[in-house]
Amino acid sequence: MQSVKHYQELKGAENTDMRISFETHDAAAFFNNNPPVVQLLGVQFEIRNISLTSLTLKLPEGVSLAPVAEAQTLSLLQSGTCFYECPVVLQPLKTGVAEVEVLYDQRGVDIGVIARKNAAALARRQSGASHPSITYAVPADYRVFCTEVLDYLSDQRSFIETNIAPHEDYFTLEEADTVAYGLEEASEADWARLCFAGNELVLPHMHDEALRPAIKSFTEKLLTYELVKGTNWHRSYFKPMGYPGDFRIMNYMYDHQPEGTTTYSRYLHMLGLISGRPIVSRMDYISRYLESLRQGTDNVYHVMSIGSGPAREVQRFLENTSATEEGYSFTLVDQEIQALDYGINAAYRSLAPSRSNVIVSGMHTSFTEMLRPMSTFRHLPKQHLIYSAGLLDYLNAGLCRKLTSKLYDHLCPGGTLLVGNVNDSAIGTYWPMEYILDWTLFFRNEQEMYDMATGCKGADVSVEMDDNGAVYMLKVTKPA
Ligand SMILES: C[S@@+](CC[C@H](N)C(=O)[O-])C[C@H]1O[C@@H](n2cnc3c(N)ncnc32)[C@H](O)[C@@H]1O
Repeated sequence: MQSVKHYQELKGAENTDMRISFETHDAAAFFNNNPPVVQLLGVQFEIRNISLTSLTLKLPEGVSLAPVAEAQTLSLLQSGTCFYECPVVLQPLKTGVAEVEVLYDQRGVDIGVIARKNAAALARRQSGASHPSITYAVPADYRVFCTEVLDYLSDQRSFIETNIAPHEDYFTLEEADTVAYGLEEASEADWARLCFAGNELVLPHMHDEALRPAIKSFTEKLLTYELVKGTNWHRSYFKPMGYPGDFRIMNYMYDHQPEGTTTYSRYLHMLGLISGRPIVSRMDYISRYLESLRQGTDNVYHVMSIGSGPAREVQRFLENTSATEEGYSFTLVDQEIQALDYGINAAYRSLAPSRSNVIVSGMHTSFTEMLRPMSTFRHLPKQHLIYSAGLLDYLNAGLCRKLTSKLYDHLCPGGTLLVGNVNDSAIGTYWPMEYILDWTLFFRNEQEMYDMATGCKGADVSVEMDDNGAVYMLKVTKPA
């Protein structure tokens, strides 16, 4: 039987926001960044918002409208052509607001129809394809290289279409997974070779502010639009949570499961997993370090992860240490509540039922909170291990130094800070991340890693590499 609630148990809103209204949409988002223009009373207006009953229009600078009582015909224009008309009534202008609100003067205006007619009008406009935006500034060898990558994908696609796709509608999930893993294994060496060749070609232009965007837009036009047919490339490129590296992307890498509806899209997803392996090996590195804590003599170990994401290393550690004498207190810090929920739940689920000497808690805040003089972090006990993987890669050198030294202050004597950061090696992930995925990071060299620790007085500092050779791990240990 399903557990269902009785009507009397259904609460509705529990705060004062009991009334809801229909939604007002931001016009840019509603029309996918191609909103129509409004023509009304001989004036053209931009649309700010659209709802089921009205439109809010931006009053052009220098234009004033006298009150008009009767309904007026409003026209919607896309690329200069009118595609929709309806009568509207102007609402009185509010003083100090450069906006006009107009109400539809008839029932049954369907804004879904307006959106579709706008799309149809867009389809008729001049495409501009006769003016290619790619530039010959992109080095010729790079253009040839991208063609080579496309050629490779095209061969793979045709192989799949000939040999596998005819059967795919009949595959069980297990069979479909076996095929995807097989394709991954078969492509591993070639895909890695192509990525490393890409690195070799673009690394020399890393700091060229003019050429880098040109190479990026060339790559996006040629390769990204093919690769985003694979789930993880799609999410990594489009960044639906509004920032790169959200916990679901990280989980794709850690779960290492085929995703997608066709064999070819699943294959592309697997290529993304090959490119994302350094994320997993960075997590392996931290997991090993967590294991090494157990060689100490303390009763309780305090561990903190900054920018914790799904905290899969905590989950893995707890799965592997089912019953130990010592206790652990993990503090996960992330600005994303969903990541914290995931990380905490997954960690507790992996605990042996009888185990009570482990606490996993989350701080839903930014690392910048730590940098404030009276930060809430001052109430936490000093930590045996603090680590941050995949966060300082986004911060400039000055901020990295500040944060590293602040994290160092939070260590107990003998405690260690680990900072993972992608490197600028030719066997790293620079080309696929920056150029295919527009996932911009600071790809650091060894010296830049050491520089992060300049404010850590008396520390024992070293820089190691993860197993893939794509990530540097800065290790800063406080004297005991
Ligand atoms: C690339 S992910 C790395 C996650 C995790 N450390 C891992 O390796 O799986 C970066 C994480 O940093 C978090 N983050 C981004 N900006 C942050 C900020 N200002 N303060 C705290 N966390 C932040 C994101 O929400 C995301 O979960």
